Amino acid sequence: MTTESRSARVSDTDVRPVAVIVLAAGAGTRMKSRTPKILHPLGGLSMIGHALAAARALNPHHLVAVVRHQREKVAEHITAHDPEVLLADQDEVPGTGRAVECGLEALAARGISTDTGTVVVSYGDVPLLTPELLGELVSEHQAAGNAATVLTTTLEDPSGYGRVLRSGDQVVGIVEQKDADETQRQVKEINSGIYAFDAGALTEALAQVSTENAQGEKYLTDVLSLARASGRRVSALVTEDRWQVEGANDRVQLQALGAELNRRTIFAAMRAGTTIIDPATTWIDSTVTLDEDTTVLPGTQLHGKTHVSRDAVVGPDTTLRDVTVGEGAQVIRTHATGARIGPGGVVGPFSYLRPGTVLGEDAKIGAFYETKNVTVGRGSKLSHLGYAGDTTIGDYTNIGCGNITANYDGEHKHRTVIGSHVRTSSNTVFVAPVEIGDGAYTGAGAVVRKNVPPGALALSVAPQRNAEGWVQAKRPGSAAAQAADDAQKNDDAPTATD
Ligand code: UD1
Ligand code: CA
Repeated sequence: MTTESRSARVSDTDVRPVAVIVLAAGAGTRMKSRTPKILHPLGGLSMIGHALAAARALNPHHLVAVVRHQREKVAEHITAHDPEVLLADQDEVPGTGRAVECGLEALAARGISTDTGTVVVSYGDVPLLTPELLGELVSEHQAAGNAATVLTTTLEDPSGYGRVLRSGDQVVGIVEQKDADETQRQVKEINSGIYAFDAGALTEALAQVSTENAQGEKYLTDVLSLARASGRRVSALVTEDRWQVEGANDRVQLQALGAELNRRTIFAAMRAGTTIIDPATTWIDSTVTLDEDTTVLPGTQLHGKTHVSRDAVVGPDTTLRDVTVGEGAQVIRTHATGARIGPGGVVGPFSYLRPGTVLGEDAKIGAFYETKNVTVGRGSKLSHLGYAGDTTIGDYTNIGCGNITANYDGEHKHRTVIGSHVRTSSNTVFVAPVEIGDGAYTGAGAVVRKNVPPGALALSVAPQRNAEGWVQAKRPGSAAAQAADDAQKNDDAPTATD
């Protein structure tokens, strides 16, 4: 390692925030939900999931979430999302200032000093904030040597928000709507609630913040005026991208943010090399990854950890969750969860791939097929109308139309193992557990209850018997009986001996 790169490392370490504190203690009653507001999802993650991901991307020494309302549900969710998040409980003193103080106290209680360095504060209900903008806030803050730097934006209708009070490029304070006078209410620059603080200045000022205001809350915003009054620098980073600082309080706002996030994800995907025919009917989670030269057709929803590889075409009307689509594969009008589609594979139209479906290279699941816990080898085909569950299929095997694995005996699931180069006829039923050897065949309608050795033809259907004249005898006078009479007068009609 050269001296230069070593010093770069050191300064990288220096700019890492000592902590990001994500505020998540509020109630969020307007969502009208038993689910805590910040757990509501958009674009593949909960609101708090997005907030924590952006915070984590700053690579802080500590990531803290302040919780209180529906504490257990929220804590469980946060820990599942990111087990390294430190949970801080807010007490009964209300307000954003108290919330941050509780976050700092939780760090102190673990022997973590926040006397120096940068502390970032963000909200659990602001899901579109990007790591880039958050990073820019931290850089500006550190470069300016500020006590506090607040992220602001200008809104046509600023009502409800805290207003930014300025003296030139310096912020002298923030006044809440409820505490503001008429002149202050005219200010259109609003406080997003996202800040970078000098840790020492923050701790010092918080100790002086009271609850003497219209809401009886300990306001975090008071830290700015206190820092300014003590002669420290306080400035703002103004963003024109209001979506990044917007929170969702009800389901209407949640939908608007979700649609905007989707639009951003889709445009980013297009710029990165995905053809998307119809953004209006395409929904792609921010957690999905797409290679260059992929195509997404209308009516398609890609969720979770789905990955689409180069030259693959997905859609139309396809929903994939946690699915890997191999290079050059096609997935047409399909619903799939937890599946892996091999390179060159073809799925659909109208199929349902359930978890544990793994298709090898060039394997095919055709129309109206349901699969679960199925491994299909290279070049094998299940082309039409059937169900395969708990099944392993070798390479280059052709499963005929309407084949079904009877994998469930009412109490337990059993496996079907089918070899390579097998040919099964229409309507074969595999009564699991059962094994079919390489190169074996089955006859139409076979009910396969016993293992089939390699190269054997499995037949299980009883010989056909025709009860001659049954229709005329049992259904006299019917159209069928008449048709049969007419046919028998004609020499060409099939007889039992044909
Ligand atoms: C706050 C700001 C306001 C800003 C607005 C942006 C203060 C005093 N006001 O308004 O200037 O324009 O955010 O949205 O800071 N929270 C807690 N504990 C609490 C109170 C809130 O954790 O005791 C959390 C909430 O869960 C939420 C965030 O802090 O994530 C903001 O709370 P909210 O009540 O929505 O903001 P306001 O106080 O109205
Ligand atoms: Ca409030």
